[in-house]
Amino acid sequence: MPAISATAPGKVILLGEHAVVYGQPAIAVPVFQVRARAMVFPAPDKPAGWVYVQAPDIGVDALLAELREEDPLRVAVRQVINQTGVEPLPALTLRVTSTIPVASGLGSGAAVAVAVIRALAEYLGYRLPEEIVSDLAFEVEKIHHGTPSGIDNSVVTYARPIYFERDPVGGGKRLEIFSPGRSLTLVIGDSGIPSPTARAVAKVREAWKADPQCYDRIFQKIGEIVRMARQAIEAGDLPALGSLMSQNHELLIEMGVSREEINQLVNTALSSGAWGAKLSGAGLGGNMIALVAEEKADDLASALIKSGAVRTFITRIDERAARVDIQK
Ligand code: PMV
Repeated sequence: MPAISATAPGKVILLGEHAVVYGQPAIAVPVFQVRARAMVFPAPDKPAGWVYVQAPDIGVDALLAELREEDPLRVAVRQVINQTGVEPLPALTLRVTSTIPVASGLGSGAAVAVAVIRALAEYLGYRLPEEIVSDLAFEVEKIHHGTPSGIDNSVVTYARPIYFERDPVGGGKRLEIFSPGRSLTLVIGDSGIPSPTARAVAKVREAWKADPQCYDRIFQKIGEIVRMARQAIEAGDLPALGSLMSQNHELLIEMGVSREEINQLVNTALSSGAWGAKLSGAGLGGNMIALVAEEKADDLASALIKSGAVRTFITRIDERAARVDIQK
């Protein structure tokens, strides 16, 4: 069998993080400047079931069977075995590389899972539909934090802007792929402070349990902002979208998931002419995003670096995405 390779992009959450775990809608977009890649190579001189995993970015260089049962790479491979029924696997080496910073809200865990699932399934002769790839990656996301909303695996699989909602009780989901009425330019600023999603999600859950009324009110306000933002994006009203992003950021501060370094980057973005800015992803570190006119993006990126960002990405989301509704 020839070697097979598959990739998946990074992502940012434009609006609605955390509230999405509690049933509110959220919007996420792919970030093509960073990617995870999985490659599968045959190992013809090894017996069936021999699977070797190399992931140099995270220091993994071992037989699959030597990884912890709940290691995300092992769980991703297990999903493909369960889905395809191919067991034992033909002897192979799985190599995983990624340019997506880890634990920074750019969807590295979901992108690695999607790339591995796609590459391995393809290697075994199965072209899985996007929906199945996303569902299998969702199972891997549960390792990263127990109660994922499913937004990360969805946006990374479809690699299009998505409007996403999941019923936290019934599990039903609504996923719409939609197009902006005008291209969006985002500057992403990395605080350089790693923050595992699980920690921030657990912090919000504790706070919600301690004061459900207060937190449900915050989640509902965010839900309203996201619904308005969807209209602003489709209408191409970028100043309105920016203002909604900044309002979302204030609610994330209230929720307790921002921090001084992120707030400073957000303030720098706003004083450098961004239409709006907010933290993006789980928070407590990681990335912030700013919505800006394309011609101002380079200057804004430099201002963010001066203000403490360790790196920046400029990404553009254009109008070409076809609209598709998927409900389950
Ligand atoms: O993985 P991150 O940092 O982009 O965070 C995911 C978004 C959350 O809403 C915080 C969690 C989730 O599962 O939706």
